[in-house]
Amino acid sequence: MSILKTLFAYAGKYKYLTLLSLIFSFISAVMLLLPFIWIWKVVAALLEVYPNFTQVKDAAQYGWYALISAVGGVLVYVMALLCSHLAAFRIAANMRKKAMHHVVRLPLGYFSEEGSGKLRKIIDESAASTETYLAHQLPDMVQLMTTVCAVLICLFIFDWKFAVASLIPTILALSNMFKMVGKGLQKAMKDYMDALGDMSNEAVEYVRGIPVVKTFQQTVYSFERFYNSIKNYEKFALGYTDQMRIPMTLFTTFINSIFIFLIGTMILFILNGFQITSVLPDFLFYVIFTPIIAVTTNKIMFASENTMLAQDGVNRIEGILHQKPFEYSNRSNQIQNYDIEFHHVSFSYPDSGVEVLHDINLKIKSGTTIAFVGKSGGGKSTLVSLIPRFYDVTKGSITIGGINVKDISEKELMSKISFVFQDSHLLKKSLYENIQMGFDVTKEQVETAVHRAQCDDIVNKFSRGLETQIGSQGVYLSGGETQRMTLARAIVKDSPILLLDEATAYADSDNEVLMQKAILELSKNKTTIMIAHRLSTIVNVDCIYVVEDGTIIESGNHQQLIEANGIYADMWNNYCQSIDWKVGEIQ
Ligand SMILES: Nc1ncnc2c1ncn2[C@@H]1O[C@H](COP(=O)(O)OP(=O)(O)OP(=O)(O)O)[C@@H](O)[C@H]1O
Ligand SMILES: [Mg+2]
Repeated sequence: MSILKTLFAYAGKYKYLTLLSLIFSFISAVMLLLPFIWIWKVVAALLEVYPNFTQVKDAAQYGWYALISAVGGVLVYVMALLCSHLAAFRIAANMRKKAMHHVVRLPLGYFSEEGSGKLRKIIDESAASTETYLAHQLPDMVQLMTTVCAVLICLFIFDWKFAVASLIPTILALSNMFKMVGKGLQKAMKDYMDALGDMSNEAVEYVRGIPVVKTFQQTVYSFERFYNSIKNYEKFALGYTDQMRIPMTLFTTFINSIFIFLIGTMILFILNGFQITSVLPDFLFYVIFTPIIAVTTNKIMFASENTMLAQDGVNRIEGILHQKPFEYSNRSNQIQNYDIEFHHVSFSYPDSGVEVLHDINLKIKSGTTIAFVGKSGGGKSTLVSLIPRFYDVTKGSITIGGINVKDISEKELMSKISFVFQDSHLLKKSLYENIQMGFDVTKEQVETAVHRAQCDDIVNKFSRGLETQIGSQGVYLSGGETQRMTLARAIVKDSPILLLDEATAYADSDNEVLMQKAILELSKNKTTIMIAHRLSTIVNVDCIYVVEDGTIIESGNHQQLIEANGIYADMWNNYCQSIDWKVGEIQ
């Protein structure tokens, strides 16, 4: 019952409510068995006076007892469900809360790796599966177990020979049932659930990719991944079913064959000279009682399957909780100056094992603007993301104002850095809220930021201006517009360190000049790190670093690098040619 132990860790005082529900379940199980005994007593009383039914004694009374215990049993069962539901909702809510609290303490980079959809699915659906388990399956399981035990005891009290006769098929059926809920099948079940998860992921990816697929006419190839995931699912589903086939057939056959064994025993009694009237009441008792065994074991089997599902859900949530949280420092180090230094920094993404940055050494003086350029995949975004600790360095250290970023509190670090991402994201809130982001700023400051980030045209486009809600009534911004809005956000935040990853990537040539102006103004007196593919945006920066394959291969200002006639000079020539080419095309 490791699942219960894990779940109780989230339960707090609701543990007792769960236990109370189990006690009620136990009582209701016993009460619900009593009507069978009373009914048998009615039958026995009728048989005793057969065929003079008018002389029957106490039958009506037994009938009332049967009714009272049945109604009582149902009422107690309702109480059990009431307690179990109250506890289950609380415990599942606690699980969700704990998982969410944990998730926000994970490295920021974790969220780009694990899709947000997948995280939501795990936290939401896994907690929901434990909810059903605690609210229904667990009390039902106690009730079923009690019923089985009570029935077995009753069987032996009346006549051990009939009892043995009904036990033989029951034991054979149970042994097959255990094969179906054992360890091996738990694994098959997990594989099956994983394959199911994969298939739905691939289906979503496939649907999302349809525009790309259609325009590139790749229907068959892109379908392949989706197709493979379906095939994979089919393999596990069939494997799972295959493993179930024989034990399930044997289980069903044995559990429904109790009658045959009982009739056989009855025949044996008669052959041995017993009077039919003397064995008939006992026989009838077993005929009334043994179907409970079949019904109950069937229910136990399905409840066990659901328990495995709940166990799988708990494992997935625990999987998130076992992710190592990010340790932010509690020290009250205040950053005094904004020099940023990399000391022998190497880095591999968690779980990838491939080093993407090798022994980087850098010194960025406070108040200066530097730029990273280089081929795609060289490691520029990774380098920058290490400063606000999206991930921690694998080797070496990064300092701001001489203090290791690991020794700066989260609040201090985050308040000092603004980041405009390569693929920016706006929240489904108003434009105003997207810029203001909870900072303590006036409306005028937001409006100035909008103006300085060259966003006036975006805001004026909508009749509700800054109050326009993103995502409502088809209001979406283009990539370039989104980036300009996030620039306005950075202006409002006004932090001393500014990280711009391809901030002008989407800008058209008109916009580019405006955005460059905005960036220039924004970066005044700030330590600014830019990543740029358009080299024209960085000719005036203090230092340019060329990043290739995770190392810095050249550095210097534009003039120095051109004179050095190395990689940067080549890049610059290519860039100028492409501009000429574009201009030539227009003429
Ligand atoms: N989340 C991740 N997990 C594992 N590897 C990653 C991850 N993100 C990036 N990488 C790898 O790290 C390397 C550097 O990527 P990075 O995004 O830093 O390059 P970049 O220089 O910014 O490229 P671009 O100019 O295209 O933006 C690449 O080889 C990439 O495959
Ligand atoms: Mg990048």
